[in-house]
Amino acid sequence: MELKGVGVVLTGASGGIGQALVRELVSQGAHVLAVGRRVEPLQALLTDLGERRAQVQIVQADVSKTEGMWQILQACRQSASPVRVLVHAAAIGGFGGFENTEPAHIAASLQTDLLAPLLLTQVLLPLLKAQPQAQVVAVGSALGHIGYPGQVSYCAAKFGLRGAFEALSREYADSTVRFQWLAPRATRTTFNSNAVDAMNAELKTAVDSPEAVAAQLLAAIRDARPRLQIGWPEKLFVRLNGAFPALVDRALRRDLPVIRRYFSTAAEAVVPLQHAQGDSP
Ligand SMILES: NC(=O)c1ccc[n+]([C@@H]2O[C@H](COP(=O)([O-])OP(=O)(O)OC[C@H]3O[C@@H](n4cnc5c(N)ncnc54)[C@H](OP(=O)(O)O)[C@@H]3O)[C@@H](O)[C@H]2O)c1
Repeated sequence: MELKGVGVVLTGASGGIGQALVRELVSQGAHVLAVGRRVEPLQALLTDLGERRAQVQIVQADVSKTEGMWQILQACRQSASPVRVLVHAAAIGGFGGFENTEPAHIAASLQTDLLAPLLLTQVLLPLLKAQPQAQVVAVGSALGHIGYPGQVSYCAAKFGLRGAFEALSREYADSTVRFQWLAPRATRTTFNSNAVDAMNAELKTAVDSPEAVAAQLLAAIRDARPRLQIGWPEKLFVRLNGAFPALVDRALRRDLPVIRRYFSTAAEAVVPLQHAQGDSP
């Protein structure tokens, strides 16, 4: 889709990948409704954008709350540029042993990472369907394909979201709305705790810059690609895990002592409702 003059709703706009994606979208002439709970990083981003700041409108909203959904809908209705693209990038992570993860964190993870994008999609679909062409993008994760130790609730949410987007893309295949599942691998943002960063370094897991990820997301949005897995060897692992899961079982069994060692240093993992948690590989 040619993005010039197009309205784009982007949740998670205050985050590492989100901010980089706002820059990419704005450079293409899109008008961005930038959604986040924290306004400060969004205001700093606007200042940095200079005269392009006019293309961005901050929408302070919590996607995990019904009120937040309505605030986003209201902003879309009032947008001068008709909204044709919805990008779900808001998420909270969580790294640590399953038994030490608070139930409240598991619930918040499923609420923010799975339920919120589904409900927001449902709320905005009538607006999107009224456009000649529209796209709904889930920023997924390699961990939406590969169950990873220490990431049980995050994997549950991202696997669920992938299934939902696959079903949606098939349910709306004869419509003007396209659904996309675009999955980064580990990315250098505050999403990952120090423990996850250290674990990734020890396991030699590749970590991308948010700018590199945003550039690939933008290209996939422009081309309306239904699916994207960013990075080698993750592309291969995702396929292997689908076709020969026992091979990935064995590889992760080898890494388990290292991964488990970082559970104990990931003290934040037991603090619920924080967004600065982990995602790997
Ligand atoms: N970083 C990685 O290693 C990695 C790898 C693969 C996939 N991903 C995916 O990429 C996306 C962006 O991640 P990131 O690395 O940019 O993370 P990040 O820097 O931690 O940003 C997370 C974003 O989610 C927003 N958010 C969280 N809970 C929210 C809520 N209840 N309501 C509204 N906004 C909420 C945060 O905004 P506020 O705090 O302002 O509300 C922030 O903008 C996520 O979907 C993540 O799963 C990340």
